[in-house]
Amino acid sequence: MSRLIINGGRPLHGAARAGGAKNSILPILAAAVVNGGENIIHNCPDLKDVHSAAAILRHLGCRVDWQGDAIIVDSAGMDRWDIPDELMREMRSSVIFLGPVLARCGQAQMTYPGGCELGPRPIDLHLRALGQLGVEIQEDGGRIYCRCGKMQGRDIALALPSVGATENIMLCASACSGQTRIVNAAREPEIWDLQQFLRKAGVQVSGAGCRDIVIQGGGPVRRTVEHWVIPDRIESATYLCACAAAGGRVRVERTKPAYFSAVTHLLEESGCQVETGEDWAEIQAPRRLKAPPPVRTAPYPGFPTDAQSPVMAALCLAQGSTVFSENIFENRYRHCAELARMGADIRVEGRTAIVAGVERLRGAAVKATDLRGGAALAVAGLAAQGQTEIRDIEHIDRGYQRIEEAYAALGADIRRED
Ligand code: EPZ
Repeated sequence: MSRLIINGGRPLHGAARAGGAKNSILPILAAAVVNGGENIIHNCPDLKDVHSAAAILRHLGCRVDWQGDAIIVDSAGMDRWDIPDELMREMRSSVIFLGPVLARCGQAQMTYPGGCELGPRPIDLHLRALGQLGVEIQEDGGRIYCRCGKMQGRDIALALPSVGATENIMLCASACSGQTRIVNAAREPEIWDLQQFLRKAGVQVSGAGCRDIVIQGGGPVRRTVEHWVIPDRIESATYLCACAAAGGRVRVERTKPAYFSAVTHLLEESGCQVETGEDWAEIQAPRRLKAPPPVRTAPYPGFPTDAQSPVMAALCLAQGSTVFSENIFENRYRHCAELARMGADIRVEGRTAIVAGVERLRGAAVKATDLRGGAALAVAGLAAQGQTEIRDIEHIDRGYQRIEEAYAALGADIRRED
């Protein structure tokens, strides 16, 4: 098992480059089965979850190759519609294959995606919506068997703007005759990116980023698609949090600040100077952060739940107390106990966490509990006095590309040990 060793207390300086968005590439890789052709996807990040998605595609009979930063998926040879449990459990978001496999094969079989560290990850909204489109669903002991009945587009109102459910409906509706309107759709930038990919594949879809998304299904698909994935807004925000915590001045390039403005505004309210351009953001940390108004996570364009833990790690050192309210996931405070081992003062009560700022954090042996919780420990370790050892870093590798190289390039004393 690998671990990260960080000798903290060194300000960060220099420029980092955002990679392609993890939460874009995963649904786009699933969508690559729809056109039964060649899909050249540029700016693909080299992440553990991407390799898990590639393993599912190969299992389904697709050819998957890498060419530099592009991943090429040829789904012409797809000859299966089942995903075995061991592949489903590799990553929680594997349920995103349900819609596209149904669209391509008319049937799909998979197991319930593993719950994860953020609490139960239900898929009731996915299944109810697909049922409304005409999919016949049988569940039996954790396995899901789906078959397309008479597929007819219609209005589907989501009880909450679920990112995954929105994506699964977009992907399945591409094979329904008639119009499907998703009401109360998720509005994340990754939904817009999926829409752009689907349009290049010949699917008529519009409205991504707004409340309603409309898909006109049943049209011809294009056999060759080339696409560039948008930059990762959470990776970008994590760089800014690390600099806010450790001090210094850092510029993030090849990113899209408009996608994480809720985070840059919060860091400004915490005393940082943040300048942004079309595709860059630069932060200058203050001598000491000050506690901002309450941080409430919400669906996009609200404050992103994925940035909650890295921001919390930085605000552990602020002057004053910060109130966090995690309104998206049931159990997204598991990093708090690990931060407390480093001297943080955090009180968790249900969906609320109160962070009382301390003068300093001290290095300690800690464990990554989940992807973004692990990133938060790295942020804290960069700011802490002394050595921090982070174990179970395979969680971090799911969403951050060689994190030790990225931060060493900014002057951090950080290394990976196997
Ligand atoms: C996506 O997860 C992201 N993952 C998550 O990023 C992100 O935190 C989340 O959206 C919210 O922005 C990917 O895109 C691969 P949801 P998803 O469906 O689709 C409940 C990261 O760290 N819900 O919008 O699973 C659910 O339990 C990851 O990069 C139901 O109740 O999120 C949660 O409380 C973590 N029933 C809330 O909705 C359902 O059928 C939001 O979930 C579906 C979801």
